[in-house]
Amino acid sequence: MPDPRETPAFANDLDEMLAHAWRQLARGVKDRHSPFHCPSVATIGLDGRPRLRTVVLRGVEPSAARLRFHTDRRAFKVAEIAVDPRVALHAYDPAGKLQVRIEGRARVHATDAVAEDAWTGSRMASRACYATTPSPGEVIPAPDAFTLPQSDAEILAGRPHFTAVIVEIDTIETLWLAHSGHRRARFDLATGEGAWLVP
Ligand SMILES: Cc1cc2nc3c(=O)[nH]c(=O)nc-3n(C[C@H](O)[C@H](O)[C@H](O)COP(=O)(O)O)c2cc1C
Repeated sequence: MPDPRETPAFANDLDEMLAHAWRQLARGVKDRHSPFHCPSVATIGLDGRPRLRTVVLRGVEPSAARLRFHTDRRAFKVAEIAVDPRVALHAYDPAGKLQVRIEGRARVHATDAVAEDAWTGSRMASRACYATTPSPGEVIPAPDAFTLPQSDAEILAGRPHFTAVIVEIDTIETLWLAHSGHRRARFDLATGEGAWLVP
C-alpha cells in the first residue's frame, strides 16, 4: 500500500493522472473486488430522462480510448443506445479516493467478431443470464415467473440475446480527494488535451 502521506506523481502531472485512471479501470476488469469492476452506466431514456444502472466492466483499451461491457439485446438500454448512443459512466474508489467520470458513444455488437470474441471469452455462469425468459424488464404476474436455463444447451441457446457494447470514450474526468488539496482533471481523448479544473 502506498503511504497516504506521500504525494503521488499523478497529483501534479496530467499525464500521470490519466495513466492512473486507466490503470484503475484496467484493474477493474480483472479484479472483481475493485470498485471499478462495476461502474454505473447512464443512457438517455426513450422519454428523455437519464437512466442509470450497474454493469460489469469487461474490457478497456487505453490506446483506442474504448471500454466494453456486455448486455442482453432485449434490455431497455440497447433500445436507448440505438436512439441516442451518448452514454456516461461513473465509478468511485473510496480506498483510492478516486472518482472517474466518462462520457462517450456506445455501439452494440450482436453478431460480429467483437460479439463472438466476447461470448467465447465469457464463462458459462455469465452466459446463463442471456437465456432468461421472458425478456429482461418485462412485467410478470409473480416474483418468480421467469425461467433460467437448466442445461448447457439451454444456456448456449441464449447466444442471440448476447451483445457486447463498446464505448468510444470522448472524455475522462478524474477527481482525487486529498487533505493536502483535491485534484480534478478533464481529458479530451480526441485531441489528447488535458486540463486541471477547480475541484
Ligand atoms: C453488480 C451488478 C452487475 C451487473 N452487471 C450487468 C452487466 O454487466 N450487464 C447488464 O446488462 N446488466 C448488469 N446488471 C443489471 C443492470 O444493473 C440492470 O438492472 C439491467 O441491465 C437492466 O437495465 P436496463 O433495463 O436499463 O437495460 C448488473 C447489476 C448489478 C447489481
